[in-house]
Parts: sequence; structure tokens; C-alpha cells
Amino acid sequence: MTAFDVMLDAYRTWVDPMSRKVTAVALRRAGLAPHSRVLDVAAGLGALALPAAEAGHRVHAIDLAEQMLAALGTALAPYPESTVEVMDATALTFPDDTFDAAFSMFGIFFFGDGVAGALAEMRRVTRPGGVVVAAHWADPMGGPMFTLLSRAAARLGDLPPIGTWGFGFLEGADLERALRGAGCTEASSEPFEIDYVLPEPERALDEMHTLFLNHPDYPHDLSPAQHERLRVALAEEVRRNDSSAELRVRARVNIVVGHVPR
Ligand SMILES: C[S@@+](CC[C@H](N)C(=O)[O-])C[C@H]1O[C@@H](n2cnc3c(N)ncnc32)[C@H](O)[C@@H]1O
Repeated sequence: MTAFDVMLDAYRTWVDPMSRKVTAVALRRAGLAPHSRVLDVAAGLGALALPAAEAGHRVHAIDLAEQMLAALGTALAPYPESTVEVMDATALTFPDDTFDAAFSMFGIFFFGDGVAGALAEMRRVTRPGGVVVAAHWADPMGGPMFTLLSRAAARLGDLPPIGTWGFGFLEGADLERALRGAGCTEASSEPFEIDYVLPEPERALDEMHTLFLNHPDYPHDLSPAQHERLRVALAEEVRRNDSSAELRVRARVNIVVGHVPR
């Protein structure tokens, strides 16, 4: 079971709906022809794969998290032309030019040293004239839930620092460079803002705990007293961001679209 399988319930509640807002924009920017062959790399619960299948595209979704992918497979059942497969993004097994478009939404920064190889693979399996699309959180916030966690931990003073987001690619230019390095041309990124919905302040740490476990700086060995103090500090950070009846924080995202040369 991967860390993403462990966080499945929290992901469904607190992340997938935000990813959906981003994938709606990514799908529009990709400008797909009807009935396109779409690859969703690091698909998770299908924030991109599901709306793409609903729009009539033939989607193949790959990920390493078997339980996330099983849930996505069930959700894709009404779309028999769309499928899921456990596969490593850095070693795609498809022949060259299999897809009209390859997407990775909030995926690439988890590939570690394999990012360049994964993007080159996405370009390889996309036909000439097709598009490769990637999305990632943008400066200055990075992933909003991690930023709030980082601020809460810093206020306590006795926890090791928790970085806001340690995976790079926060600048659109970094994403563009990465896609060009993978062999795409005309790679261009555009930032935009979404409202990220937050849990009730007092429940925020418990609700997001399994998401935080995946953060490289998150202390896995908090004492009960530290946990309680972090819970209170995080509640305070969430309350500070409450700008409406619903608890939200404004987050910035970059989407980069690269073209595969003809
Ligand atoms: C933040 S989630 C993004 C999920 C989905 N694309 C979305 O926008 O909601 C990152 C995903 O990357 C997957 N992942 C991480 N490393 C991977 C790899 N090497 N190959 C395939 N998937 C990977 C994880 O299992 C997880 O589902």
C-alpha cells in the first residue's frame, strides 16, 4: 500500500475536488479533438481522467497507488473505452505515439529524480502534433494545506521546520523548461487562482493527518502533547484564512501545455 492509498479518504474529501477545478482548466487549454486518446499519468482518483471520459475521450489512467486506481476503475465503469493500469510514470510501457495528449496533474513532483525521464516518456507516447500537459502549485503559497501546516509548526518553536512545499517547480518557467527539456516545443504556462476549501479548524489536523504523513518534513513521532499543540496551532492558521462563510484559502496553480513537434 502506498502513502497515497493510506490517504485515500482524506484525498477524496480535501484534495480531489480542488484538483477537479484545475483539471477543468487543463482540459480546456489542451484543446482536444472529440474522442481523443488521453493518458492520465499519476491519475490518483481521476480528477482529470473522469471528466475527460465524461467528455467522450478514451482515457488510460496510470498510477502506482493500487487502491486509488481501483476506486478510479470503478468510477470509470460507465466508460468502457477508458481503463486504468498500475504503472510507473518513469517507465511507460506504451508504444510511441499511442496518445493524442498526456497529462499529469499534481504528479510530476513526486517522481523525484525521475521527473525528466517521466516527461520524456509522456512526450514519447504522444503523437506528433499532440500535447503534454502538467499542473503544479505555484508561488508564493505552494500546496496550501502544507503552507498552513508549516506556519503552525513554526509557531510552536520546538518542532523541526516543516517546509511549505519541498518539491520545486513552483515557477511556471521551471515547468516550461522541464517540458522543453523533454522535447516539447512552444511550452507555455499560465497561473491561475482557486479557492481551496479547508476543514473545520478544530478538526483540521485529524482530517489532514494522512495527507501530511506524505510530507518529507512531517514528524511521524509526535508526542500526544505535541500533537495537541500542533492541532491547536493549525486550527488557528485555518481560522485566519476564513474569508467567507465557508473555510477557504486562495491558492495559485500553474498549468503548462507543451506541443509535440510534428
Ligand atoms: C497529488 S496526487 C495527484 C492525483 C491526481 N492527478 C489529481 O490531480 O488529483 C499524486 C499521484 O502521483 C502518484 N504517483 C507518485 N509517483 C508515481 C509514479 N512514479 N508513477 C505513477 N504514479 C505516481 C501517486 O500515487 C498519486 O496518486
